Amino acid sequence: MRILLAAALMATAAPLAAAQPASSPAPVLTTPEAVDIWTHAAPEVARVTHVGLDLDVDFTSKTLGGTATLDIQARPDAKDIVLDVDDLDIASITDAQGKALQWTVGADDPELGSALTVQLDGARQIIIAYRTKPGATALQWLPPEMTAGKKKPYLFSQGQPINNRSWIPTQDSPGIRQTWDATLTVPGDLVAVMSAEKLSGDKGEALADGRRRFRFRMDKPVPPYLIAFAVGDLKFRSLGPRSGVWTEASMLDAAASEFADVEKMIDAASDLYGPYRWGRYDMLVLPPSFPYGGMENPMLTFLTPTIITGDRSNTDVVAHELAHSWSGNLVTNATWSDSWLNEGFTTYFENRIMEALYGKERAAMYADLDWDGMMRDLKTFGGKSGTGARTRLHGDPGATGGQLDYFKGSNFLRMIEKTVGRDRWDAYLRSYFDRHAFQPQTTAGFLSDLRKNLIKGDAKLELSLQLDRWAYAAGLPDNAVHITSETLAVIDRTLAAYKNGGPASAVQTEGWSTQEWLRFLNGIPRNQSAARLAELDRALGLSNSNNAYVRSAWLELAIANRYEPALPSLHEFATRVGRGLLIRPLYAGLMEQGDWGAKIARTLFTEARPTYHPSTAAQIERIIEGSESAG
Ligand code: BES
Ligand code: ZN
Repeated sequence: MRILLAAALMATAAPLAAAQPASSPAPVLTTPEAVDIWTHAAPEVARVTHVGLDLDVDFTSKTLGGTATLDIQARPDAKDIVLDVDDLDIASITDAQGKALQWTVGADDPELGSALTVQLDGARQIIIAYRTKPGATALQWLPPEMTAGKKKPYLFSQGQPINNRSWIPTQDSPGIRQTWDATLTVPGDLVAVMSAEKLSGDKGEALADGRRRFRFRMDKPVPPYLIAFAVGDLKFRSLGPRSGVWTEASMLDAAASEFADVEKMIDAASDLYGPYRWGRYDMLVLPPSFPYGGMENPMLTFLTPTIITGDRSNTDVVAHELAHSWSGNLVTNATWSDSWLNEGFTTYFENRIMEALYGKERAAMYADLDWDGMMRDLKTFGGKSGTGARTRLHGDPGATGGQLDYFKGSNFLRMIEKTVGRDRWDAYLRSYFDRHAFQPQTTAGFLSDLRKNLIKGDAKLELSLQLDRWAYAAGLPDNAVHITSETLAVIDRTLAAYKNGGPASAVQTEGWSTQEWLRFLNGIPRNQSAARLAELDRALGLSNSNNAYVRSAWLELAIANRYEPALPSLHEFATRVGRGLLIRPLYAGLMEQGDWGAKIARTLFTEARPTYHPSTAAQIERIIEGSESAG
């Protein structure tokens, strides 16, 4: 119903777009693929162009309260503007002069939240006074025990895909770009950071009441899922002229050493695909409950501490989030069905950055592991329709076909590179980012750009690429590129000896990178005896491993074999680490083990749930209730 309405509105969109002066925001795309089913907004009628936030952060009530001032561009005949909200307490809405405007909040959709419809009465700026709820899905409020310092509370937001409507009343669609500014007022002993330019220094401004005020500005139009903040006992260390890292004091040395190459990564990325357009590139290392490996918040990538393993073997995650500064933040998926345009492009680009810094073999190691991941995901999800690189799934936009948007999407681009040659491909991709900078993109839009600017009517090339199969069909086209790694081939030989009954003590793990560990552990068949698992754990120290990837892979193996001596390690891990990629497979594995596993999963989740970000808690609840696999 809502989609039909949006389609009807689109028919009238052209005159508005044509009438805009050149300086106005890029028009929202109106092709059928660009219709976003995860927003209530009707941007063709009225759209938000700028968000101004002024919020007070209250750790006692676990709420943010204050105002959102929205600048609006609307058709002359527009009566109202429709915004996305999820469980906000709205006190009042006025125009810029303080005149009250009429508004209604529609029914609450479990996935989308509600439509907030505001009568404009000619207004082109509106001011919403509101407060968030303690359960806001974007926000995780951490008690001091869940931080590294254990003394002060912590708070952070995670907007992607559609969580930001739980703390910002705006049009929460990746195709509706908005500039923004924000003032955050926080307890005097804490520091606020945001995905934007700092206007009030590293320490903010001290207020008479003992609190501190931090001001920020993002003057480039961004999709609203990229508005992000964190508040905690944070310190900063510079790493280069454009880069540095924020984290708690006790983490600062380890973080600075792990990410020492970041400035080189920015150079390599710019050499490949054009200038870095965001000014600074800082990183924030969060507490271990952070739900992702990383999140590409502009100017301030958010990172899980689980990538800090002391050997820099997981800095591909930094390369990945940095690459999003082009694919994702500059050229953005118009809707979450096109997430491969963000994640597949970025996974490809990330690998090119790693190759530029560390050479072909290291890049091959990551690519080879991604191939393994793709094979796993194709088995689980690949038969379903809508599992081309473009995943057309409904319901939760965060639940794509495993990570096929990453794996299949990046392989798609690698196949084009191999077919046309690296020089031609790189020149094309660089021009692509220039042509579409600060705009939304769809799969059809990408394919048509590719045909116009790279293929240029070459029928033989067109035939050999199989573009539409890659983009839209299930399964894997036969021109996929499997890059294999020498380093991992060595691991495969060690693994073969072990699988043949060789002793665990013969497995020499000294100096293994995370990737070598993963190749070994994921390759062990899921039918091990308790004695064999005990021997492995004793020889390799798996239950006590400080590498979270190793712990997670080991626990997956242990769970698949119902190996109970590993349960204390599982408990310690799953109540401390909240990164979805490392804990979802554990819950999913437990649920595959009948009553034995289901009981453990339920007990564990009851205890661990308060330590998880709301979006991760919801995903795990769905795994336990049986409506989702680990993807
Ligand atoms: N943008 C994603 C994180 C994300 C995905 C948030 C989907 C919400 C919904 C981020 O760039 C990412 O891909 N993170 C990965 C790391 C990457 C190296 C594979 C992660 O979280 O593991
Ligand atoms: Zn990503």
